[in-house]
Amino acid sequence: MIKKLLCVAVLAFLAAGAAALEPQKAPDCGRQEALKAKNRKILVVYYSLTGNTKKVAEDIAAATGADTEGLTENKKRTGFFGFIGACAAAARGKLTEIGPVKRDPLKYDLVVIGTPIWAHKVTPAVRTYVTEKKGSFKNIAVFATSGGTSPDKAFETIHEITGMDPVASAGFIEKDLKQENERHYQEKLAVFVSELE
Ligand SMILES: Cc1cc2nc3c(=O)[nH]c(=O)nc-3n(C[C@H](O)[C@H](O)[C@H](O)COP(=O)(O)O)c2cc1C
Repeated sequence: MIKKLLCVAVLAFLAAGAAALEPQKAPDCGRQEALKAKNRKILVVYYSLTGNTKKVAEDIAAATGADTEGLTENKKRTGFFGFIGACAAAARGKLTEIGPVKRDPLKYDLVVIGTPIWAHKVTPAVRTYVTEKKGSFKNIAVFATSGGTSPDKAFETIHEITGMDPVASAGFIEKDLKQENERHYQEKLAVFVSELE
């Protein structure tokens, strides 16, 4: 009898542990259904050199059922000189040549725009996109990823170019995207996604 009781206790303990270790999924909580029910078409447009902004963009899309558009730049941004050139171009507010854009923002109720922070500013690719497409947005939301710098300047630039106030904004730092901060990241993401409704 004691053996049986011990066995049940051990199994219950293991089950609780397994539940706690279960990986966090992208936040959904019925939001995708809620956004669909409202018939809101959402597009997430982003530029990403090393993958952080792409990850956040794809998580937002997964949680909202949005379409995505990854911007490409016809300029080499890798290596030491690529890095310096990228910083200089962002700092000076330069435009750049971006690859063909496939999705028409006019067809969407909301366009979520994501940029990495370069030299405390918006990236040239995203600056170019919003400059070329201003007037084609019904509503915008903005997010950025950075090593720690506040995204405020980048958001201000997007506001100045488009003349629009975003319905939501969020800054994610690289630390947020690390496995050990998964819970914190998912919470932050869920708040941003809820503001898109
Ligand atoms: C050219 C360049 C300039 C950067 N400048 C900054 C900066 O001023 N402040 C900061 O916190 N992070 C800076 N970073 C780090 C990026 O903002 C951060 O790694 C971001 O998450 C990268 O996004 P991605 O992986 O989508 O390209 C810079 C990175 C690059 C490549």
